[in-house]
Amino acid sequence: MKKSTLNLSAEEQSWLAGDGGPALKRAVEIIVALGNIYGATRLIPVKSVQISGVSYRNLGQPGLDFLQRWAAEGAKVRVPTTLNPTAMDMENWAAQGFSGEFAQKQQAVVAAFSQMGVGGGHPVPTCTPYLVGNVPALGDDIAWAESSAVVYANSVLGARTNREGGPGAVAAAITGRTAAYGLHLVENRLATLKVEVKAQPRTISEYSALGALVGQQAGKQIPYFVGLPLEPGSPLALEKLKALGAAMAATGAVALYHVEGITPEARNAPMLATAHQTLVIDDYRPGYALLSDPVAKIDLIWVGCPHSSLAEIAWVAEALAGRKLTIPLWVTCARPVKELALQKGLVDIIESAGGQVFSDACMSIAPVKSLGFNAVATPSAKAAFYLRNLAGVLARFCSLERCIETALDQGREV
Ligand code: F3S
Repeated sequence: MKKSTLNLSAEEQSWLAGDGGPALKRAVEIIVALGNIYGATRLIPVKSVQISGVSYRNLGQPGLDFLQRWAAEGAKVRVPTTLNPTAMDMENWAAQGFSGEFAQKQQAVVAAFSQMGVGGGHPVPTCTPYLVGNVPALGDDIAWAESSAVVYANSVLGARTNREGGPGAVAAAITGRTAAYGLHLVENRLATLKVEVKAQPRTISEYSALGALVGQQAGKQIPYFVGLPLEPGSPLALEKLKALGAAMAATGAVALYHVEGITPEARNAPMLATAHQTLVIDDYRPGYALLSDPVAKIDLIWVGCPHSSLAEIAWVAEALAGRKLTIPLWVTCARPVKELALQKGLVDIIESAGGQVFSDACMSIAPVKSLGFNAVATPSAKAAFYLRNLAGVLARFCSLERCIETALDQGREV
């Protein structure tokens, strides 16, 4: 058996011996196993956790049984912990076409996490926890699991997390610890791929297309962008960075990127390794084709991957004002963001046009085909990637404007 590399504190050793009960023992065993796999020498406290692996479609009954057993053993989170999206809107699932049987199972998954104290017992399922109060600070060690949230937290907020797996994140929440390896160590945060952007992306979907191309080339490397036409604080600047990172995390396994002079670590220090490769992007538009099937008829437009911010919902509402859709258009977001959108009248505008705004949900992890959809258009590279590879439907990745035009005119090809 491989010798452990970890030096555990007296408290961690007592948990391992079972002094804190079976649930804590199981959790610390997972963290220790991960630490040994990655050659960590110590565990570190984390300030927050974000858990993925919430969809009943993906977990199935064995996953639900596992979570319920852990919760029944007395598992409790000891740091602020948020939950990834579920397959469906937890309140309005019938409007999406889910069966009562599926809804009951999905509710049982969330109930198991609630019993563990996730979200203070009232989880808000979302992949954008940083839009609803879980905002780590520069240099904070955290243990987040959802790939787009991970890359946003590392890059845009300057927090430190690896891409945690589902059980690893739950174990981190229960112990309040993670193993110190990978992106928790400053020396591993230097970029190894310089990306010179000659094309000038302007919109959120153009940043997403750029990210699709770069992610495909970067794999697990850390990109360092130069030449991005992004003004800090300009409208939708954060949404563009959100889209860029999510796309790279999908077509590659990018967990951290830097933008010269913009992202926090790159503002304060040279974050590009002396020995690096260089990638020149002359045109982001091939990113659209990369994730599009040859499909003539689209039957759903999905906006909100990662979950939409209020500003993104306002953009959709503005584009739809006074118009009538001929196919469904769904916007997904965190529930508190929808509440703000309701207060501002944005949901009314979208619904008057025939669209719908759903909370909690992610279509990539939903049984999209059994909801009756075979071809989905989206302005998100990440959505297109997972709709094709996980949900098993045809996808068309295109600009938000073009998505909306399609939803206004059923007869047109996208
Ligand atoms: Fe979020 Fe689902 Fe997209 S988790 S980032 S909406 S694939």
